[in-house]
Amino acid sequence: MPKVPLAVKIAVPIVGLLLTIGVTITAVGILKAWWSTPFSPVQPSGTQPIAFRHDLHVIAKIDCQFCHRGVTLTEAATLPSVEQCYFCHQVVLKDSPEVSKIAYAFQNGEPINWVRVHRLPDHVQFVHDSHVRFFAEQNGIAPSQACSICHGDVGSMKIAEQVRNLKMRDCVDCHRNRYLTYLAPDAAQRIRTAVVEGQRLPPPTDCAACHY
Ligand code: HEC
Ligand code: HEC
Ligand code: HEC
Ligand code: HEC
Ligand code: HEC
Repeated sequence: MPKVPLAVKIAVPIVGLLLTIGVTITAVGILKAWWSTPFSPVQPSGTQPIAFRHDLHVIAKIDCQFCHRGVTLTEAATLPSVEQCYFCHQVVLKDSPEVSKIAYAFQNGEPINWVRVHRLPDHVQFVHDSHVRFFAEQNGIAPSQACSICHGDVGSMKIAEQVRNLKMRDCVDCHRNRYLTYLAPDAAQRIRTAVVEGQRLPPPTDCAACHY
């Protein structure tokens, strides 16, 4: 056995350790980017400028679509204008401190700067109208009953929060097969047959469909 110099004896394990750490960090990075379900719990929502509560409004039988008018029409669901809040709140609970912020914004022509809860990166496009119309039409339900597939039971939330991962794997998994599990059995059967027979396209899985 040739004698190994002390410097090499020390250097080998250190280099090995650094390599292991480097590889681990890279691997976790890749896994996190592509398969992030177990890694990044959904972020908590920010503090809103007005303590708006979905539960109080939904229990008062105000439809999601009344406030989120874009859901069946455009890419964005859209948020209600100050005028829409004021329409009710010039009367309803007008002396509550939170509600008085609405009158202030209305009278001063100021917007309410709501903090976004969901936020996809800029290189991704998501369209509400296609999704909401597809699930509502195929299941024969109202558009507002289709929101829970991705947003959970917003009607019972005090503070709106993200409940579904909505990362790339989640989108692609649903487009491949899982979308059928959100359909009533007869609708799922009808769509499956139509796709197999080439009468309709399945949801897109090509990169360009979701990325600009
Ligand atoms: C269609 C009518 C209607 C619209 C539109 C509406 N609200 Fe309300 N709002 C209500 C009702 C009804 C309640 C519950 C009243 C109760 O609990 O007695 C309520 C309760 C509230 C409360 C709770 C007040 C408190 O002190 O407990 C806040 C804050 C509020 N609304 C803000 C808003 C904001 C902000 C908007 C616009 C994004 C809005 N509302 C739009 C009808 C409306
Ligand atoms: C009275 C108006 C009103 C009604 C009715 C309403 N919303 Fe909202 N919604 C808002 C406002 C204002 C915000 C922004 C403040 C917040 O995030 O709480 C919001 C935020 C949201 C968000 C988070 C948006 C983001 O920033 O990512 C979702 C998801 C949502 N609403 C879904 C629903 C669903 C589903 C329903 C029906 C069950 C519904 N909303 C009914 C007014 C309303
Ligand atoms: C297939 C999943 C899916 C369904 C179904 C869905 N959403 Fe969304 N929603 C998303 C995603 C993803 C985002 C984030 C979009 C972004 O950041 O560009 C979002 C964002 C939002 C926002 C905030 C941003 C915006 O678009 O204005 C609101 C409000 C909202 N959704 C409401 C609703 C309502 C109300 C319904 C039902 C009528 C609904 N969504 C159905 C996935 C969905
Ligand atoms: C719950 C299942 C589900 C989830 C989750 C989902 N989608 Fe979809 N998506 C569908 C279905 C079903 C269609 C096809 C609708 C049709 O054929 O009318 C579709 C269609 C699309 C289209 C094509 C729309 C058009 O008008 O051509 C895009 C783009 C898209 N989805 C992006 C996304 C993105 C980005 C996400 C994740 C943030 C996502 N989807 C999450 C079910 C889903
Ligand atoms: C059904 C929609 C959909 C399809 C199809 C899709 N992506 Fe994505 N992709 C997303 C979403 C959503 C994100 C953003 C996830 C997040 O919130 O960080 C994303 C993120 C990415 C990222 C960035 C990773 C990161 O962590 O930021 C890359 C790179 C990427 N996609 C490449 C691709 C390639 C290559 C394809 C085709 C093989 C593809 N995507 C197909 C929805 C899609």
